[in-house]
Amino acid sequence: MSLISGKTKVCGIIGDPIEHTMSPVMHNAAFKKLGIDYVYLPFQVRKEELDKAVAGVRALNLRGLNVTIPHKVTIIPFLDRLDPLAEKTGAINTIVNDDGVLTGYNTDATGFLQALLERGIKPEGKSVVILGAGGASRAISFVLAERGVNLAILNRNLTRAEELAHRVSQVFNREVNALTLNEENLARALASAEILVNTTSVGMFSDIDGTPVPAKLLKKGQIVFDIVYNPIKTRLLREAEEAGASTISGLDMLVWQGALAFKIWTGREAPLELMKEEAIKALENEN
Ligand code: ATR
Repeated sequence: MSLISGKTKVCGIIGDPIEHTMSPVMHNAAFKKLGIDYVYLPFQVRKEELDKAVAGVRALNLRGLNVTIPHKVTIIPFLDRLDPLAEKTGAINTIVNDDGVLTGYNTDATGFLQALLERGIKPEGKSVVILGAGGASRAISFVLAERGVNLAILNRNLTRAEELAHRVSQVFNREVNALTLNEENLARALASAEILVNTTSVGMFSDIDGTPVPAKLLKKGQIVFDIVYNPIKTRLLREAEEAGASTISGLDMLVWQGALAFKIWTGREAPLELMKEEAIKALENEN
């Protein structure tokens, strides 16, 4: 098959900035591996041009898009339909274009869940501590609340944690705790939690010596999921491993959100291992 033909279906990602995205290498490698006539491109779209970018999806008949910072929430009014979980979450990261009808999905949320499920971890009925109250926390809080999880949200800015907890508890009619992210609250919340999820940017490149949780609070039997994927092994994950906890890297969530988007656009199962290898290679070249 020639690389690009008149029949090639075009997908891509919109965001600003966009140059550090791992998605083009993951998707293009996956299309090639499956021998399907698709291509995936990065598009830098400024906030004030978002409406025109969505009009462009229709006008140019793109097959689908990933959507990243800063457009995950503000793009919603421009779409025709939302998947029910995306609707509850109020943020999307994937669009599929079916003959001009644009549907939004949140595969960050379902990708997070898949990364747990593939390790045999069923969140139903468990207690989960989530650090952070930004966009990523929102997607994860909603997907976990939908699965009947007891949630505590800890954030540096308490008001943001309270707002998110309020929204989740309203939608799912269950109590959600909101606390300030400090050592005392962490110690208390972690005493009764099976799973810890870091959605803050603490520990992310170039803050690689940072960690949101003192090592002494990490212990055997806990599951520690850091959604940061650069570096792949953050200080939090290293210290959790040393304490005997089970660890999951943000790389798994990154690959799963991509794999789920791939399935939505192509109808085919994504080659997960290949996408993961490509993301690791791209991350090694980044730093
Ligand atoms: P995302 O969409 O990736 O979740 P975001 O909306 O910018 O990004 O959220 C970043 C999260 O990291 C927030 O919870 C932020 O805490 P605040 O709401 O208090 O700002 C958290 N965060 C960033 N830097 C932090 C730091 N140095 N210490 C603790 N939390 C931090």
